[in-house]
Amino acid sequence: MQKKTNDKDMPPQICRPLASKSKRGGGNHKFFLKTYGCQMNKLDSEAIAGALSELGYEMTVSEKEADIILLNTCSVRDLAEKKALGKLGLLKKLKKKKGNLLIGLAGCLAQHKGEEILKKNPHLDFVVGTREIDRIPELIAEAVERKKRISALSSCREIKEPSSYLRADNIKAFVYVMRGCENYCSYCIVPYVRGPEKSRPSKDIVSEIKSLADSGYKEVCLLGQNVNSYGRGLKEGIDFSGLLEKINSIEGIYRIRFVTSHPKDISEKLIDSIADLDKVCESIHFPLQSGSDKILKLMNRGYDLSDYIKIVDRLRGQVPDVSISTDIIVGFPGETEEDFNRTVKTFEEIRFDSSFIFKYSHRGGTAASRLEDDVPFDVKLERNKCLLSLQGEISQKKNDCLIGEKQEVLVEGPSRKNIKMYTGRTRQNKIAIFPGCDDIKGKLVSFIPERASPNVFYGKIENSKL
Ligand code: SAH
Ligand code: SF4
Ligand code: F3S
Repeated sequence: MQKKTNDKDMPPQICRPLASKSKRGGGNHKFFLKTYGCQMNKLDSEAIAGALSELGYEMTVSEKEADIILLNTCSVRDLAEKKALGKLGLLKKLKKKKGNLLIGLAGCLAQHKGEEILKKNPHLDFVVGTREIDRIPELIAEAVERKKRISALSSCREIKEPSSYLRADNIKAFVYVMRGCENYCSYCIVPYVRGPEKSRPSKDIVSEIKSLADSGYKEVCLLGQNVNSYGRGLKEGIDFSGLLEKINSIEGIYRIRFVTSHPKDISEKLIDSIADLDKVCESIHFPLQSGSDKILKLMNRGYDLSDYIKIVDRLRGQVPDVSISTDIIVGFPGETEEDFNRTVKTFEEIRFDSSFIFKYSHRGGTAASRLEDDVPFDVKLERNKCLLSLQGEISQKKNDCLIGEKQEVLVEGPSRKNIKMYTGRTRQNKIAIFPGCDDIKGKLVSFIPERASPNVFYGKIENSKL
């Protein structure tokens, strides 16, 4: 691990807690941080944890032990909001018992409904939006010193890139390449809670990844709501393929992944990059959302089914072993049985490697919220189950075809479910489970699948490649 630094010009580092610097007196103050939502929130949480560690707080997995409890929330669907609000409600008791406990709500739900939530929950000390998370240490100090409740919910502030992260993993790391989104898909809250799209200069990204490589990281996953539009608005005249090329030449990094790709912005150049750049993994997540052109139009997605299929064909033509995963929303306003059957047919034709199926959730303030949420909940549920089961069958058949076929796996460590077994991922992002030992952690190995479930390969390793 590298030394921690606050220097703005230095790349973000992996940090260790410095207990002696605690601003709350003593040196054993602890924070508990729970994260909801997507990879962006996970990375934001790693930045928050890094900042609190710099302040001297130690991370704990026990809420009872904590002096600060932070919930980093998601607002993408109603259920995500309910989970976080439910948890916040449960914390009331703990706050009563421990008067000096600080409770904070961060992230997308805080950004969306922070003021209202603060009013309704007197036990909540502060709410902090997505564009102010770098101010959390300052807000905590203010809440403690002035004994007042705080809201920091600016929607236009430029977020300062973190100077340190406390990362959950030491083999794979998420790296921001852009923040925000301005695609305004009609169902989606993200542009309203994450603000406009902004790409990060490539030199900052490269220097962060070099520093990760120096610290022993082997894989990076580049994050953005629509990575394919990377570079828009930057003076340096670079696109996502150009960025991949730069990262591909960083020594020590073995693998590059990225999420999410918006079908309307996937270029031939990007497909060439996946085919030609050796570290870019043959796996892509690009959400289709629906197989019906009528629904895609209502969703304001900017492509139709034939555009999407053209990309799939081109990808599979140039990168034959590519794995493709997708997101689907069922029960969007106006989705008829016929529209849904188009999605089912598309599933049968494209045969995705995996997919995430969501039930449409009405989000106040979005364009789709003006449409009647007219698909009954049980119909949404039925459609969701139907696609899940179809995907299960397809994934099983696809994985069965790979039994006995050698795969490159990056070993991540002991499996959580069975510590005698080790786990890693194939280049196609499929989970592999095999007998192993700590010596191969962080190494690329040659893995032979012996049996498969829809989501996991079980097998053995032949040898360590590196
Ligand atoms: N930027 C990514 C997706 C981010 S949100 C992209 O465009 O691909 C992740 C997924 O949540 C979306 O792909 C969509 O399938 C789902 N989602 C977003 N808003 C939703 C809503 N209101 N109801 C149900 N699912 C939703
Ligand atoms: Fe939401 Fe669309 Fe932006 Fe993805 S691209 S975050 S679905 S608005
Ligand atoms: Fe992610 Fe949820 Fe926010 S999906 S961007 S944490 S609304």
